[in-house]
Amino acid sequence: MSQTAKPTTVPTVPPAIVAAREDFPILRRSAHGKPLVYLDNAASTQKPQQVIDAITRYYEHENANIHRGVHLLSTEATAAYEAARGKVARFLNAVDDSEIVFTRGATESINLVAHSYLEPLLQPSDEILISHMEHHANIVPWQLLAERTGAKLKIIPVADDGELDLETFDQLLTERVKLFAIVHVSNAIGTVNDVKPLLAKAKARGIATLLDAAQSVQHMPVDVQDLGCDFLVFSGHKIFAPTGIGTLYGRREILDTMRPYQGGGDMISRVSFSGTTYKPPPSRFEAGTPHIAGGIALGFALDYLSQLGLETIHAYESELLAYAASQLAAIPELNLLGNPRHRSGAISFTLQEAHPHDIGTILDTEGIAIRAGHHCCEPLHQRFGLNATARASFAFYNTPAEVDALVVALKKAATLFA
Ligand code: ALA
Repeated sequence: MSQTAKPTTVPTVPPAIVAAREDFPILRRSAHGKPLVYLDNAASTQKPQQVIDAITRYYEHENANIHRGVHLLSTEATAAYEAARGKVARFLNAVDDSEIVFTRGATESINLVAHSYLEPLLQPSDEILISHMEHHANIVPWQLLAERTGAKLKIIPVADDGELDLETFDQLLTERVKLFAIVHVSNAIGTVNDVKPLLAKAKARGIATLLDAAQSVQHMPVDVQDLGCDFLVFSGHKIFAPTGIGTLYGRREILDTMRPYQGGGDMISRVSFSGTTYKPPPSRFEAGTPHIAGGIALGFALDYLSQLGLETIHAYESELLAYAASQLAAIPELNLLGNPRHRSGAISFTLQEAHPHDIGTILDTEGIAIRAGHHCCEPLHQRFGLNATARASFAFYNTPAEVDALVVALKKAATLFA
């Protein structure tokens, strides 16, 4: 725990961001009679009108099953869904659209890699390398796999400031490691991990790599070719698209080697009782009718972000996060979780002995939505000797005035626990 964030000036909100905030109808509602201050974006982001309209338009004009029909609606729905795949590919700078597998979200994407890529390769002497700051979604699938195969899970420690212990990373990156799976941005501390050199080291040793980008793609440009990862996962609902849709990016050469994930319709070439053959990626991993409206809406969310500009978003959010961290660090009763060099998205904290759920409830009465708990990062909290923290998490539509409202409410809460 530390509170060394330097005071910063109040950020100026760029005009494009001021205008974009108006695209989010829910941000105009009130909560408990107060203006809503939505600071739970790491859990789920709000949706712009353009995305809401895309969903409505799909159900009003195109709704039909995809890849199966010869009629106009099915053809249009298929074209829209596949266009969305292309949008995700361009958003991540994938080499080819076929490197994008639609899933239910980052969690399912990681489970898919565990089942279809890693499980057939693992021997009991092998290791999977992750870090102490992973979300449960990047822990539990590997634990389950380790139980099934006898392989071992190795953990890169996290220092008090919330940064990865890179010396230990170097020691743990041995020839026994068959997959290195790492979070890009911590959903609890907000640490932005400098993953490119770590991925390069793993690659140089022939180790496959997975990047959990669930908390980064909405905040900064992410380029899979530049980063050099084999797999990347993210969830639609954290990037202004609906729940129930997400992405697995996989390098085509690797996807080609992988066994199917689930069996069913649309993933097969031929089915007979004497044997079944499978389609190439990405269809091989997309059994059954998918979340068609969700995929299309995800494409519109990415269009929306690209038009606003990830560089603009990143520059503004960096200032907003620095401002928020400095304002929170100046509240004597507050302890911030970690003090990373580069922070994005989230700031977690405790307030003296107050239970984080009580802080969350008090803030809720002020119209301020934050998350309280372990944020699906129990091992990280255990490492800091905590059961839970309160967390404010930000998106580009948040304003310095909302940071100020959070600070006022926390100061008021601090008097209740004094
Ligand atoms: N992973 C989500 C969060 O951090 C649910 O809140």
